[in-house]
Amino acid sequence: MRRTSKKKLKDDFLRYVCQTSSEPMGIEVADAQGCIITDRSGKKYLDFISGIGVANLGHTHPAVVKAVADQAVRYLHVMVYGEFVQEPQVRLAERLALVAPRSLSVTYFTNSGTEANEGALKTAKKYTKRKKLVAFKGGFHGDSQGSLSVTGRELYQKPFRPLLPDVSFLPFNSLKPLKAIDRRTAAVIVEPIQGEGGVNIPADDFLPALRERCDKTGALLIFDEVMTGMGRTGKLFALQHWNVVPDILVLAKALGGGMPLGAFIGRPEIMKTLSEGPPLSHVTTFGGHPVSCAAGLAALDFLLENQLPERAEHLGLYLMDRLKKLSEIGGVKDVRGKGLLIGFELNDPKLTERFVRNCREAGLILGWTLHSNTVVRLAPPLVIREQEIDQGLEIMRESLSKALDQ
Ligand SMILES: Cc1ncc(COP(=O)(O)O)c(C=O)c1O
Repeated sequence: MRRTSKKKLKDDFLRYVCQTSSEPMGIEVADAQGCIITDRSGKKYLDFISGIGVANLGHTHPAVVKAVADQAVRYLHVMVYGEFVQEPQVRLAERLALVAPRSLSVTYFTNSGTEANEGALKTAKKYTKRKKLVAFKGGFHGDSQGSLSVTGRELYQKPFRPLLPDVSFLPFNSLKPLKAIDRRTAAVIVEPIQGEGGVNIPADDFLPALRERCDKTGALLIFDEVMTGMGRTGKLFALQHWNVVPDILVLAKALGGGMPLGAFIGRPEIMKTLSEGPPLSHVTTFGGHPVSCAAGLAALDFLLENQLPERAEHLGLYLMDRLKKLSEIGGVKDVRGKGLLIGFELNDPKLTERFVRNCREAGLILGWTLHSNTVVRLAPPLVIREQEIDQGLEIMRESLSKALDQ
């Protein structure tokens, strides 16, 4: 690719690439390896957000790169989804069936998280022949129209109405309102831990009660584990924290090891509904691209062989412990999380903005959450070393002190 001068590239980014905010981070990426992103001036950033929960193996992992290169010379796209037998797809679906709860054995591959949620919702409506959907306030499921319809934040829904009709939003982590799930309900969609909502962890009885209510009414339970899956929370899937098995499990982000890939996985009798009445009622050209599936298989193998979920659990405790100590300097309201999905909640939005900006200037990339302006999200690669965590914590300490004085 032809290299452009530093100044011109940033200008061209702002002019030609559609902007989604008035203040993009704008880091000009030259290289990304492990937990480090290097910009075009040579400045190194420690990445504590993994491209928003994607780089669980770190950036540019050699096992993923090799799988991509090997598959790229065999074949790229050959046929729309579901028609030809493509080995990387079959092997990844088989592997997912082995590691997911036993009843979830059939996978439909997509390109992204929002598409996987669309597919899961459509499957539930077709299977149950019902129309009503139930979702939760503060939930996030993606930005296509169906997923946005079940995303629990008025601010983001309003400009795009009308959205899907017949969607009810319940408070997350509250038992009594679950009664609103009834025999008209096709599906209930929930993140086991809300990510964009501010890293909200439910009480231990919430998801079992939700499962029970769905069983009672015949509504399908969809777990959106786009953010929480693939080891992020200290288990391969967050559902394992509560031993609750959904009817459909949705994955994306880290699933492709850095390549675009999503999936929804269900029981055979539910997933069969997509092949009949009428057939071809839910298809995709690129979903389950062979290169993405090859990358996903390599990533999953590495994740399991190297016990990265266990590593996330252990390092999450280490990081949270130190974040709590760091909180003593002031300005911090709460530290919560599971594994390496951590919410660091500050006292006010302006302080949060200054803190995140200071961190970035000092070489640490942190995340934000869409639905909260005081919760900073930490989701570093699961391969991060303790020494790198310490380095990040030091930057956070200095940046918070500075933000408190600014
Ligand atoms: C829980 C959850 N679901 C769905 C999505 C949408 O995924 P994608 O951006 O791949 O469409 C996201 C993205 O942040 C997410 O966090």
